[in-house]
Amino acid sequence: MAAAAVSASSSRVLVLSFALLAAAVSSLAGTAAALSTGYYNKRCPSLQPAVRSAMARAVAADPNTGAAVLRLFFHDCFVNGCDASVLLDGPAGEKAAAPNANSLRGYEAIDSVKSQVEAACPGGVVSCADVLALTARDAVSLLGGPSWTVRLGRRDARAASRDAANANLPGPGSGLPALVAAFAAKGLSPRDMTALSGAHTVGRARCATFRGRVNGGGEAINATYAAGLRGACPAGGGADGALAPLDAETPDAFDNGYFRALVQRRGLLHSDQELYNGGSQDALVRKYASNGPAFAGDFGRAMVRMGNLAPAPGTPLEVRVNCRRPN
Ligand code: HEM
Ligand SMILES: *[C@@H]1O[C@H](CO)[C@@H](O)[C@H](O)[C@H]1NC(C)=O
Repeated sequence: MAAAAVSASSSRVLVLSFALLAAAVSSLAGTAAALSTGYYNKRCPSLQPAVRSAMARAVAADPNTGAAVLRLFFHDCFVNGCDASVLLDGPAGEKAAAPNANSLRGYEAIDSVKSQVEAACPGGVVSCADVLALTARDAVSLLGGPSWTVRLGRRDARAASRDAANANLPGPGSGLPALVAAFAAKGLSPRDMTALSGAHTVGRARCATFRGRVNGGGEAINATYAAGLRGACPAGGGADGALAPLDAETPDAFDNGYFRALVQRRGLLHSDQELYNGGSQDALVRKYASNGPAFAGDFGRAMVRMGNLAPAPGTPLEVRVNCRRPN
């Protein structure tokens, strides 16, 4: 009997270790393996049309909303994976981090899309992280850019980290090696980095982020372009919040105008012009500048890869009802 008891308990141990191993393997594989295009087909069949029409209204009211939510998705995914942590309110959260404070916008648009999704499928069925992934995709296509199939089934973080946002998001003063490294740290290639930077074909940046570039010496910048920006963003300071389009060619159209501008040395941020300043990405920038469909295809594929970034194993996750706070 004793032997039988031992063997029963050791087989339980064995079963338990298999279960733990399976759990470990599936969390190592990350959310990516669990995401699927049909995740909400039964749970919330009207999800995608609901998000699309809510975004269409938001972008019609203010085209910059499209740019704003696209950037929100990037800043979400680069900080412990795409888990909507960026949307959590609070002084120790990501909203308060240097790259985000007084800079990220579009939170109200996400609130509005999420409340329309809750109306269609009540009770916290659809995660804020999936809402963000869908709004980013729809924003790009509503502004005239490509579309792609979004894999779904992400879950939301219960906490956000200001420090992690400060550590993971590259700044506008970054050189090419730092940009490549920041994306490599997320498993994304230099080509992904250059394609994703093409998001700067829409949206606006504050004078504080480009003052040095348009006023300083030693920058590879188009002299006419720099002169045109100095009025609104003078060297002396005092206009930190003045906005300029990131793509001087076609500010609100999701096209390859950003890359055409780079070739003319009209990148707004130092980090933008670093993609075309005699380095490894020059040839790709020239290709995107002359071939819109090549950019569009690479951008969509890179967005899918960025959208697969998963929270670290063990991160407590849930489906939040209100994107601004844990349930
Ligand atoms: C490659 C490294 C990147 C750097 C250094 C960078 C930096 C910046 C900075 C400094 C701004 C202006 C912020 C402000 O004025 O407050 C900005 C705006 C923006 N960024 Fe990036 N960014 C990068 C990559 C990306 C990526 C990968 C995406 C999306 C896929 C993206 C989407 C945007 C958009 C759409 C805006 C305009 C937002 C608006 O108008 O509200 N950026 N970025
Ligand atoms: C500077 O920009 C203008 C367009 O504003 C363009 O015609 C010119 O070729 C650019 N100069 C350089 C050196 O790229």
